[in-house]
Amino acid sequence: MTTVSKNEYYTAVVSDYTHEGMGVVKVDNYPVFIPDVLKGEEIELKVVKANKKFGFGRLINVNTASKNRVTPPCEYYYQCGGCQIQTMNYEEQKQFKKTVADKSINHMAKLDKEINDTVSMDVPMYYRNKSQIPVKLKDGKIEMGFYRPRSHDIVDIDHCLIQKGIHNQLMVFIKEELNREKVSVYDEAVHQGLLRHVIIRSNSDDSEVQIAFVTNGKKNIFQNINDRIIENFPSVTSIVQNINTEQTNVIFGDKTNILKGKEYITDTILGKTFKVRVRSFYQVNHEQTEKLYKKAIETAELKGDETIIDTYCGIGTIGLGAADKAGKIIGIESIESAVEDAKENAQLNGVHNAEYHLGKSEDVMTRLTAEGVEPDVVFVDPPRKGCHPEFLEALAEVQPEKIVYISCNPSTLQRDLKYLNQHGYEVSPVTPVDMFPQTKHVEACVLLQRKRR
Ligand SMILES: C[S@@+](CC[C@H](N)C(=O)[O-])C[C@H]1O[C@@H](n2cnc3c(N)ncnc32)[C@H](O)[C@@H]1O
Repeated sequence: MTTVSKNEYYTAVVSDYTHEGMGVVKVDNYPVFIPDVLKGEEIELKVVKANKKFGFGRLINVNTASKNRVTPPCEYYYQCGGCQIQTMNYEEQKQFKKTVADKSINHMAKLDKEINDTVSMDVPMYYRNKSQIPVKLKDGKIEMGFYRPRSHDIVDIDHCLIQKGIHNQLMVFIKEELNREKVSVYDEAVHQGLLRHVIIRSNSDDSEVQIAFVTNGKKNIFQNINDRIIENFPSVTSIVQNINTEQTNVIFGDKTNILKGKEYITDTILGKTFKVRVRSFYQVNHEQTEKLYKKAIETAELKGDETIIDTYCGIGTIGLGAADKAGKIIGIESIESAVEDAKENAQLNGVHNAEYHLGKSEDVMTRLTAEGVEPDVVFVDPPRKGCHPEFLEALAEVQPEKIVYISCNPSTLQRDLKYLNQHGYEVSPVTPVDMFPQTKHVEACVLLQRKRR
């Protein structure tokens, strides 16, 4: 039984981080997690929640500050849930991400692997090339911003430090336009009103920008606003309306109509051009994506004749990046528009040795291997929930020489690596890549090599 109680004050030293970026202190051996504290700091805290095995605390005072503590550069940091680690300087953020990878791989999965230094961003701000901005009506005024932590309340924001400059300009402009036009706004409590989200997506040199209005119904009342957007922002080359009439937290619906310009924007990664449609997954940090893909492709040490399966392939970016160095690329992806994008992207780049399969990796992989496909290399880049067990089984069954696993969630990464390690694979050192500076999110890349028999 712990002697630590709710609403009590304690003094303690921060000894570690959770994977959520909170500091850990031990009070009489009872762990308490506190946001916005740094390793090594002596702090005064108030316990706000005391569970059986651990508690949560609030920072009252920093008695001894870490040399890596900074004042959060964003004025909304303490209200907005978008960023979690802005009280750490960038060195500490990189160290934190390395620690998270280390804990997952070595403490949880007990793989005993080296963790390389986090691949950092040159200037770790203004990187997000996709902004999904919820819209709400409050006291007769339309607000746009991001959610408070663990809430559906919006913090009305005019400037976000991690989204690109043109997104900030457009966010403010569109908010003014929506207010001027008194656009009907969706209220999730009663499932009524029109506009739910505004999406802004841009390519790496801002020469093509897409706006998407996600609406509860197909009514199009955006004509005047669209004209003014195009007049003021000539690089907006695509405005679309996505219709989502469901009572759900999922942002997009199935139907998208073009309101102005094209249905997609194009971007360049490692010299290849990619079309991206509104619903397709596309990495949000261009500078870091190039570093990540370069690392992933180099890691595979391709000789030129390999059959590569690129699973969870999105619009085909990784596989097409490797196509010049491979015999054949087989992409697998579950979103239909992304598969269409991938096929068009292969053509656009003059790649003739790539084919794409629509479906879930767990189904398509099993089918392909049953048909006799024998990949030499498999790129695996799943969403946060990691790989489906049936996909891993199929992978272990077909035993490619190399698997390059790219992960955006160290806890599912460690689970999947452990499985593959038990099924014939040697795990190499893990490289965290900082795709999401200022936030708790950790991306990592790792090679698995078939064990010699
Ligand atoms: C993290 S993204 C990676 C996409 C791509 N490799 C890239 O770097 O842009 C994961 C992708 O997997 C797709 N996906 C999710 N579940 C899937 C499944 N069960 N089978 C195939 N693809 C899936 C998503 O639509 C998304 O495009």
